[in-house]
Amino acid sequence: MFVCLCHSVSDKKLRRLILEDGISDMREIRRCTALGSQCGKCVRQAKEILNDTVAAQYKQAS
Ligand code: FES
Repeated sequence: MFVCLCHSVSDKKLRRLILEDGISDMREIRRCTALGSQCGKCVRQAKEILNDTVAAQYKQAS
């Protein structure tokens, strides 16, 4: 599913950036993908995916 339609960023791509590339904040996600730099409608959902993925990763590690 696309999270950011303006820049064609999917939820899979976001999870890959977080889990495989170690990205852990919105600033880095924006730098890598340009997500949120046009209409901004995607930012809230992207933050939710970031928080959920980081939380799941942390839970798995403990
Ligand atoms: S949907 Fe992401 S900037 Fe428009």
